[in-house]
Amino acid sequence: MRKLLPLIGSSSGSHPGGRSAMTCRFRCGDACFHEVPNTSANEYVGDVIAGALSRRSVMRAAAVVSVVTAAGTAVNVAGAEGAEAATAASRHPHPSRPSHSSVPRGLRFTPVEPNTADAVTVPGGYGQNVVIRWGEPILRGAPAFDPEKQTAAAQAGQFGYNNDFLSLLPLHGNQKLLVANHEYTDEILMFRGYDAANPTREQVEIAWAAHGLSAVVVEGDRRTGKLTPVPRHPLNRRVTATTEFRITGPAAGSDLLKTSTDPTGRKAFGTLNNCAGGTTPWGTILSGEENFNQYFANASRATDKRYGIGTGASERKWERFDKRFDVAQEPNEVHRFGYVVEFDPYDPSSTPRKHTALGRFKHEGATIRLTSDGRPVAYSGDDERFDYFYKFVSSKRMRHGDSRSAREHNLTLLDEGTLYVAKLTGDSPAIEIDGSGKLPADGEFDGSGTWIPLATATAKGAVSHVEGMTAEEVFVFTRLAGDKVGATKMDRPEDIEPNPKTGKVYVALTNNTNRGVGTNAKADEPNPRNANKHGHVLELTERWNRPESTSFAWLLFLVAGDPDDPATYFAGFPKDSVSQISCPDNVAFDPHGNLWISTDGAQLGSHDGLFGVATQGPRRGELKQFLTVPKGAETCGPVIGERQVLVAVQHPGEITGATVEAPASTWPDGPGTYVRPAVVAVWRKDGCDIGS
Ligand code: FEO
Ligand code: CA
Ligand code: CA
Ligand code: CA
Repeated sequence: MRKLLPLIGSSSGSHPGGRSAMTCRFRCGDACFHEVPNTSANEYVGDVIAGALSRRSVMRAAAVVSVVTAAGTAVNVAGAEGAEAATAASRHPHPSRPSHSSVPRGLRFTPVEPNTADAVTVPGGYGQNVVIRWGEPILRGAPAFDPEKQTAAAQAGQFGYNNDFLSLLPLHGNQKLLVANHEYTDEILMFRGYDAANPTREQVEIAWAAHGLSAVVVEGDRRTGKLTPVPRHPLNRRVTATTEFRITGPAAGSDLLKTSTDPTGRKAFGTLNNCAGGTTPWGTILSGEENFNQYFANASRATDKRYGIGTGASERKWERFDKRFDVAQEPNEVHRFGYVVEFDPYDPSSTPRKHTALGRFKHEGATIRLTSDGRPVAYSGDDERFDYFYKFVSSKRMRHGDSRSAREHNLTLLDEGTLYVAKLTGDSPAIEIDGSGKLPADGEFDGSGTWIPLATATAKGAVSHVEGMTAEEVFVFTRLAGDKVGATKMDRPEDIEPNPKTGKVYVALTNNTNRGVGTNAKADEPNPRNANKHGHVLELTERWNRPESTSFAWLLFLVAGDPDDPATYFAGFPKDSVSQISCPDNVAFDPHGNLWISTDGAQLGSHDGLFGVATQGPRRGELKQFLTVPKGAETCGPVIGERQVLVAVQHPGEITGATVEAPASTWPDGPGTYVRPAVVAVWRKDGCDIGS
């Protein structure tokens, strides 16, 4: 029988989106408790930007978009070695279930049972190690971690807080280059006796240094998939909330981006709330600036409202220490966050970039697929209830090779091209979509869609395709452009990733408990459940399987939840033999083309986890849980390689009421230590490949 676990955090401190109230407070500035920022009837932009912006001539694109239709048992062990599922989980074998031999390569493991162990729990036969923790020194001269004596200078040379996106890039020999995002800080768990009303300058500056990105060289073990960091390696680097960035693309130099410290509008300082990301085919990292709104105070404009920027003090009170975080004093600084940033980890002296051509919103991340003639197409979700997802099609071709000129050229690929937003239409009668999740008569939540062009950037300038908005307004107030063209309001579009084997694109839609509630948009075929607690995963097929197409077909691959709940769907696979899943967030692919999904805010009584599922063949939809993470944590940054699975354990112990003095988790180092976000590698103890 499927194990039923007591609901965690269901009474005190759980927010509507499913997370701990503390997660909401520090990570997204209580986004779920605030009004939904998209109150548009998808027509309302009209005057929203009036007053904030001058009106300039606008070109309406002649481009017309045509709709096409075709196209385990957990061991409660804290510590670096974590937990291994102790028993084989036999789950309701189904008579029609294909034989073991047909389980696709990469997915041959015994699923981990839902659990609440304060540990990383992995399948039997697998081992694990903590690769790197918050505060471990990576730069030359950085001191060993001492949370009682932490300083901003120390933190700037140490691994940052709340690791999210991960990339593992090739280097030489047994060495690889690990890049991690550091999304945000949990001051309550970082500082003993933290007074949220009166943070000190040192605490604030430590938080600035704990945000951003880390690059750190790691050494692989020859026998297993174990990885260990190489401190002081010349490629090791930290990017923080104060590092210099170059603003590139069509909005660079715009009046909307000029500030008192940067009258050019081309030089920004720092990156914030870097959530998911992508690794480009030219060897750089893309990282999404997500809930940047929460760091800014005293906003007042309608454009600020659409981005959820607060009218009062910010949670962390940074505005007391740097006026750029006070919108009333420095109105344009907030326009310099909310971009996709690009970082070249192979060049530690490079200036990272903010790409305005990919638009400004709460970018979860960005991932690339190349057209047949070598132009990158970047997919990106705007993680907010009722917001949109986008793609950018570059007009420039990638150059191969590792010459300096090729690398320089490739860093400009995302500056010229067209930004699109998605509009989805269902193919079933609206009356059959009753908001319960019941499948319509045609047996699938599916339909067609169009990519609506918003603006095009060229070397000679940019052109808006949105009536009433200039091109630079489209790139800086992209949400308003999406409202205006009638984009489809989705249930929190998070990570999006094309399957490198098939080209199909997978969109994680985490949840939206406001769907169908009050005056909010009701269920539709692409978001078929009202009060959607568990989320879903959408599979998108570009017309002719060309990433540059302006139309697509789509279907819901997964409607998440307890498989016993009739309102769930696992690509048609028998539901008596799949793992439960709630709140899909990050998506990734293994070398065999299987989809891996990590969760954030799981609502079924188990801790968050990582799951693998085949997208093709007779096992399509057979979801299997690979691991679970410790108490209060979300599972992030999955990298699924041949030899190891890497996960970023983000915000462990982030449970309402927890403090340094009274921690909810002591992972990874056990009682008497600070709980620390960390990166974990999971590998086969026998040295064989993952899932083989
Ligand atoms: Fe940072 Fe959308 O999760
Ligand atoms: Ca249908
Ligand atoms: Ca995320
Ligand atoms: Ca991803």
